[in-house]
Amino acid sequence: MDRLKDKVACITGAGSGIGRASALRFASEGAGVLVTDLRGDAAEAVVREIEAAGGKALAMAVDVGQEDQLAAMIERTVSHFGRIDILYNNAVNTSGKGKADKDFLAFDTERFFDVVRVNVLGGVLASKMAIPHMLRQGGGSILFTSSTSSLGGDVAQFSYGGSKAMVNWYVQTIAATFGKHGIRCNAILPGVIQTPAQQAWANAEMDAAFLDIHNVPRLGKPEDIAALALFLASDESAYINGTLMRSDGGMSCTVPYVQVVRNLLTTKGA
Ligand SMILES: NC(=O)c1ccc[n+]([C@@H]2O[C@H](COP(=O)([O-])OP(=O)(O)OC[C@H]3O[C@@H](n4cnc5c(N)ncnc54)[C@H](O)[C@@H]3O)[C@@H](O)[C@H]2O)c1
Repeated sequence: MDRLKDKVACITGAGSGIGRASALRFASEGAGVLVTDLRGDAAEAVVREIEAAGGKALAMAVDVGQEDQLAAMIERTVSHFGRIDILYNNAVNTSGKGKADKDFLAFDTERFFDVVRVNVLGGVLASKMAIPHMLRQGGGSILFTSSTSSLGGDVAQFSYGGSKAMVNWYVQTIAATFGKHGIRCNAILPGVIQTPAQQAWANAEMDAAFLDIHNVPRLGKPEDIAALALFLASDESAYINGTLMRSDGGMSCTVPYVQVVRNLLTTKGA
């Protein structure tokens, strides 16, 4: 109930999915939370949920692709709650994808920069703006939602995967640059998490195929990631800095051909 007592958090993309679940969880553990999202109405709905449960939160419409809005977000966190202990950079570009993501030969410069502006630069600039406050306070915890997509090559998501690999570099770099000043920076690499974004592009067949390559009995839930975010945001993880922490149902813990072996074992009845 009080793992984040007296702490203040600012979360981006918190109107839905992982960000929403994290906002609810952080507030339930005693943090004051600035709930921000491109869609102000979605942020407000999350704040109403938090308040109904007795928590403290404030909603703000923020496009993390706009530098002036990021500055206003950090300023609002500090002016309203008096400090900023946790910055959770979680927003993801959710604008239309199309051919550029599926066909490398249709790779599109504008789309690439659009994705990088939101998925990478938004979090980097928000960190730059929050860190002076954290330095004054003597520490802080910065989180980014990366992705298991950052860990290897893909046959699609040509801008998204690259942007998440970039996120990993900044996480480790911020961790190294400010770690000795008490500011930690860690990344969460979710696997398949059943959020509105994931459900928009998956279907029942894909979910079944994903489940096949999992090494747990189910796919992920936003609350699984919120639980890890809570740990990384709290002082319980004080010795953890610069990690790229996977929460992916064991999807990436095996040799790549494990499903082939499993099928073989099944068909041969061994
Ligand atoms: N769901 C998964 O399977 C999965 C897997 C790996 C990584 N992730 C990562 O988790 C994070 C959260 O994703 P989710 O699945 O909860 O998505 P989601 O679509 O449920 O939530 C994303 C939120 O970001 C907001 N948003 C979009 N553009 C924005 C902008 N420019 N500024 C501010 N907010 C903006 C949307 O309005 C939305 O509320 C993302 O960084 C995503 O890349 C998700």
